[in-house]
Amino acid sequence: MQTLILRGEPAREEAMAKLRAKLSAAPRAPGLAVVVVGEDPASAVYVRNKTKACEALGYRHQTHRFPAETSEAELLACVAGLNADPGVDGILVQLPLPPGLQAERILGALDPLKDVDGFHPENLGLLVSGHPRCVPCTPRGVLRLLQHYDVPLAGRRVAVVGRSVIVGRTLALLLSLKGKGGDATVVMCHSATPDLAAETSRADIVVAAMGRARALDRRHVRRGAVVVDVGINRLPGPAGGASLLAGDVDTAAMQDWAAACTPVPGGVGLMTVAMLMQNTWEAMCRREGLV
Ligand code: GUN
Repeated sequence: MQTLILRGEPAREEAMAKLRAKLSAAPRAPGLAVVVVGEDPASAVYVRNKTKACEALGYRHQTHRFPAETSEAELLACVAGLNADPGVDGILVQLPLPPGLQAERILGALDPLKDVDGFHPENLGLLVSGHPRCVPCTPRGVLRLLQHYDVPLAGRRVAVVGRSVIVGRTLALLLSLKGKGGDATVVMCHSATPDLAAETSRADIVVAAMGRARALDRRHVRRGAVVVDVGINRLPGPAGGASLLAGDVDTAAMQDWAAACTPVPGGVGLMTVAMLMQNTWEAMCRREGLV
């Protein structure tokens, strides 16, 4: 069985082209503000990619950088200023925050209508209640990637491994919603699942989002299943060389085994920023009364 590689680039380009077409008829450019605290190296890469995407689409953008020692009060003051700024449609607080800062407290202070990450309790509540408004970017990117490659979800058994709010838990909710893009039968697995392989090997689609390099292999995936790898793990490179990026799936083991598999890098990661651009566009439309 030749394994189809579900590359992110064509799906991202399709999403960006659709967005460009809408932007050409928009009354104004959307505005995104990113808040970064500390010096997490992975965050620096994400933030650069967000800035590039804003520039490619002509969004107004601003980045607010704070040292790791910044107090909660200082961050809350920054968030309050961005909430009140009419030129800012979307606010994203880059995670993880340094130890000592509670993400829930900062995220909970965002204007929910500007919460383009979809992590505010009001937006998470809307998702749980089946009326999603702003949906987290990575789960949205997974769905968009599967849609691009015509992978059906309705009635299929999906195993999601990982229960983070950023990915696993919200993706499991989205997949189980009634209607288009949902209607899947979902099992959410995590570190306390006694027999992970028994759960995942029953699935038509396996989504790996637990943040453990190459942890899933052929024992976890039935032959002919579709594999979506959300993991981005940095591994030491060959002696003295640059570090390597690895997903949560042993991709080499999926060759000629899975029906289809996303690569790392170059898979789901590319979709996340495109979906952030989409969410920021939608936030602007809501604020302008265009939807
Ligand atoms: N860090 C890793 N992924 C994300 C994300 O989707 N949003 C934010 N704010 N931080 C992240």
